[in-house]
Formats: sequence, structure tokens, C-alpha cells
Amino acid sequence: MANVTIRDLNKNYDNGFHAVKDVNLEIRDKEFVVLVGPSGCGKTTTLRMVAGLEEITSGQILIGENVVNDLPPMDRNIAMVFQNYALYPHKSVYQNMAFGLQMRKYPQQEIEKRVREAADILGIGPLLDRKPRQLSGGQRQRVAVGRAIVRHPEVFLFDEPLSNLDAQLRVQMRVELKRLHERLETTAIYVTHDQVEAMTLGDRVVVMKDGWVQQVGEPLELYGKPANRFVAGFIGSPSMNFVDVIINELGGALYAEAQMLRLSVPPQHQDRVRAHLGGRLTLGVRPEALRLASGADPAGYCFDTAVDVVEPLGNEILLNFRAGGAPMVARVDPAVRVRAHENIRLAVDPARVHFFDEKSAAAI
Ligand SMILES: Nc1ncnc2c1ncn2[C@@H]1O[C@H](COP(=O)(O)OP(=O)(O)OP(=O)(O)O)[C@@H](O)[C@H]1O
Ligand SMILES: [Mg+2]
Repeated sequence: MANVTIRDLNKNYDNGFHAVKDVNLEIRDKEFVVLVGPSGCGKTTTLRMVAGLEEITSGQILIGENVVNDLPPMDRNIAMVFQNYALYPHKSVYQNMAFGLQMRKYPQQEIEKRVREAADILGIGPLLDRKPRQLSGGQRQRVAVGRAIVRHPEVFLFDEPLSNLDAQLRVQMRVELKRLHERLETTAIYVTHDQVEAMTLGDRVVVMKDGWVQQVGEPLELYGKPANRFVAGFIGSPSMNFVDVIINELGGALYAEAQMLRLSVPPQHQDRVRAHLGGRLTLGVRPEALRLASGADPAGYCFDTAVDVVEPLGNEILLNFRAGGAPMVARVDPAVRVRAHENIRLAVDPARVHFFDEKSAAAI
């Protein structure tokens, strides 16, 4: 069991590319932390530095109390599961799982005990004599996890382990990994570009972009209080709606305006938004913070628009429309009957309006 500390971590590749920038993270013992972000943001590089597979340019990595910067991967007591599983094609499932322990000269009896135990946990006991090519994608994935489990590592590192699976299996394996983590109680760092995977698996989620950490928080914290426009747009599906607004004052009340759109600035934002009076901000509102207006909704939080495209998904309906010059989506109750090109009145939930600085993109 171990915590992992990452201090001022940087990676400059040999060609000069600065892939990881001043990353600081404190991963607690038994915690499941997910690194998420778009392709190329430095997730794998960070993970590989923790694993010892990539040299650290500057900074420190500690596992438990020990600085591991100069420890070879073998001596770090971590186990990594790769995206492509990296199974040996000519070895059986048993041999694949046992190999790492054999290399480390574990006694035969101990190896057998650990492999059977891991196979049991993962439900692959009956497959131990098969070769990887005789397995389905999901079964291969379990073998790759099994190979990590038998090591009894202090830390699991996962690099997009589910990305080769079809959508349904991915959802199923996601639940299995979560259950597995609860059972094994081993610290885990998990890399994915899939924000849903990040939100469902992570005790905490680290959002990265261009090598920088954008925000670290529990899933609902990222969803409810995104630190900047990037995190706001990255977490949640469909994405948060954004519209560039000008802040005006009318009769003592603050409004956010864009073309034909005029919305009251909700009370909790008044003080901070007032500092931008006459200036521009980006207003953000999630699709689920919009609904068809009723007579009870205050006019300041309502606006009129025409529906462009209707997407009936069964459990919800997505209404696509434009407001304030921006394309937007509302996620409404499936019982709502709206047709394409119909004029509608929508209400914004004032408790769920976000404002972002136009230049820095930070939440204000
Ligand atoms: N050996 C290398 N030399 C130079 N640049 C590299 C090298 N390896 C990776 N990079 C660059 O570093 C950046 C981060 O790469 P990394 O693999 O960490 O991204 P990632 O977040 O894991 O992306 P993905 O989601 O596509 O796997 C990318 O821009 C990549 O092109
Ligand atoms: Mg990667």
C-alpha cells in the first residue's frame, strides 16, 4: 500500500518537445486517480515516468516515502496494464500471468497460488491453458489485468486499458475494474481520454491539456465547479453550451447580453460579474440546466428560440438550437413534444450558470 507524490514534474523529449509541465499531484494510499485529457496532453508520458519507463527531465516522484526517480521499473513495486495488453502470443494465459513472477525468481508454489487466485478474481480460471489468440478482447484484457494483480504491487498503472473493447464491453469492464479496485484496495493511476470513464472510475480526476494540469477534483466537483472553460467543456456530454456575452446594467440589474439573448446575472455571480461591467465574458450553461419554460419561470432567465434539430434518445431528448449567436443544446424530458423548427421558450436554471473570463478562460 502506498501513496504516490509527484512534484514539479517535467518532461522534455529529446527533440525539445515539452510534453509534461510542472505537474504536482498527491495520490493517496488506496486512491483511484484518473488522468484524463485530449490526445497528446501528456497522460501516457506522465504515467510512464511514474513507471520508470521514461526518464524524468526535472522534478520528483515518490512512492511511499521513497524518491524513485533513479529506480529501474523492476524495483518500483508497480504494475502496469497497457492499452494493447502486450501479452506474449506463444505463451498460455497461465504462462503470461506467471512470467513476471518467474523472472523475479518466485517459488513455483507461490506463483501457482497467485495465478490461481488472480484467475479466480477475474473469472478466467477455465482459460488458463489457452493462448491469447484463442481469447476474446475482454478476456485478453482480464489476462493483462491478471498479470498485474499477481505481482501484488503497491501501485497499479493503467494506460487506456479498455480502449480496444467495443462500447458495451467497455462499460462492463469499467464496472469490473471498479469492483476490483474496491476488493484489492491498491492505489491506482488510470489514464484515459474518455471523460465518462474518468468520472465513473476516479475517486479523483486530473484533467490535463497541453502538458498542464487544468484541475484536480472529485468527479462531481469538476462537473459542478469547473475551474476554467476547458474543463467545463471537456467534462459532461453533451458539452456545456458557451456564448460570448457583454455585461450590461439596466435599472440597477446586471444582464449578460448577446445579440437577441438577454439573461439576468444570477445573484451568486453578481459581485464578480459587476467587475466586468461593459466588458465581455463567456457564459456557460449545461444542456441539462435548460428546460422548456413554464409561466412560473422568471422572465430574466427565459429566452425564445427556434428548434433546429430534435434528437429523441429515449431517456431524454436533445434540442439543438441557436441563441446569442452560438449553437446550443438543451437536454429535456422525453415526455416533451417538440418538433423541428418549432418556436420554443427555454428557461435557464440560475443556480447552474457559469461565467468565464474571456481572455484567461478561468471561471470567475
Ligand atoms: N518520444 C517522443 N519524442 C517527442 N515527442 C513525444 C514523444 N512521445 C510523445 N511525444 C509527444 O508528447 C506529447 C504527449 O504525448 P503522450 O503520449 O503523453 O500523450 P497522451 O496524453 O497519452 O495522448 P493519447 O491520448 O493520444 O495517448 C504528444 O504531443 C506527443 O506527440
Ligand atoms: Mg496515451
